[in-house]
Amino acid sequence: MTTISDIEKKVQSLKETFDHSVTDIKSVSELEGLRVRFLGRRGHISELFKSLEMLTPQEKRGAGKAINDLKNNVQTIIQDRKATLDEGEDARLKIDTTLPGNRGYIGRYHPITTVLRQIKSIFHKMGFSVVEGLEVETEYYNFEALNIPKGHPARDMHDTLFVGNDIVLRTHTSPVQVRVMESQKPPVRIISPGRCYRRDTPDATHSPAFYQVEGLCVDEGITFADLKGVILTFAQSLFGSDMKIRFRPSFFPFTEPSAEYDFSCLMCRGKGCRVCKGTGWIEISGAGMVNPAVYKYVDYDEEKYTGYAFGMGVERITMLMYEVNDIRLFYENDVRFLRQF
Ligand code: DAH
Repeated sequence: MTTISDIEKKVQSLKETFDHSVTDIKSVSELEGLRVRFLGRRGHISELFKSLEMLTPQEKRGAGKAINDLKNNVQTIIQDRKATLDEGEDARLKIDTTLPGNRGYIGRYHPITTVLRQIKSIFHKMGFSVVEGLEVETEYYNFEALNIPKGHPARDMHDTLFVGNDIVLRTHTSPVQVRVMESQKPPVRIISPGRCYRRDTPDATHSPAFYQVEGLCVDEGITFADLKGVILTFAQSLFGSDMKIRFRPSFFPFTEPSAEYDFSCLMCRGKGCRVCKGTGWIEISGAGMVNPAVYKYVDYDEEKYTGYAFGMGVERITMLMYEVNDIRLFYENDVRFLRQF
């Protein structure tokens, strides 16, 4: 025999079971299971409604209301819970793992920087340290102390950018030689990479701003053979052991004797091609034994010390290395070009 208090107890215990179960629910399908168990056609709540039959009409009204309240309560909680679970599942589904990803934009070194780093590393291994020079120089350091007297072609207004009386944008890195020798006594073994400026109209092989690396080594007993050894080691470290070098007699006011040095052509490996204009050689820069005339400016004992110096055009080397045929490409900041390196 069912009484109203039996039903009320049942309502109370069902409510507790439901409240307890609903907190453990983690997915929409689990929630659906719970809904069927409570609200389904044969669920706990329908069963309770059925048991009302045994009661008097008056009792039915009271107990019926208690069951209805439970039903509404269960319905509301299930709806709310479903909404939160749906949201979570939606968010997970919104990530379409089959779509191509957004590739992050990874920066990289400019090719000139890459080559400069390689050059520095090679000379570092040979015991050279790196010093910084000044991009804005006095005429004294850029020309005078390098034994380039007034009237020398390198002083011509067409080459040099003047920024004031006696002040120039350096036309080469060689002034570093003078600054280094002024500030330290031999042994000196340095390289100095940096930007130089000349009044050139840009074309495939000229840029008004460009990079050089200067080299200087002064000590007792340094000979031209040391210079050749260092340049050969450098060339082979950078381009491989079959690289050859050659020196041709030349003239620079701050070296005596002076030379221009070439690397064997990378494109044709010395056979002769369009890049080396059929000669098999590519000109790199100048070099030579430091002219004693320069020692006078820096107070070095020319009887005691000898040394060599060399220059290097960084764009030229980079162009050879990466087969770039126009120097302007380095300075246009076009990502389509730069991202290839
Ligand atoms: N400074 C020279 C130039 O820009 C290159 C050069 C030649 C540098 C001979 C040197 C050297 O150190 O010994 O044309």
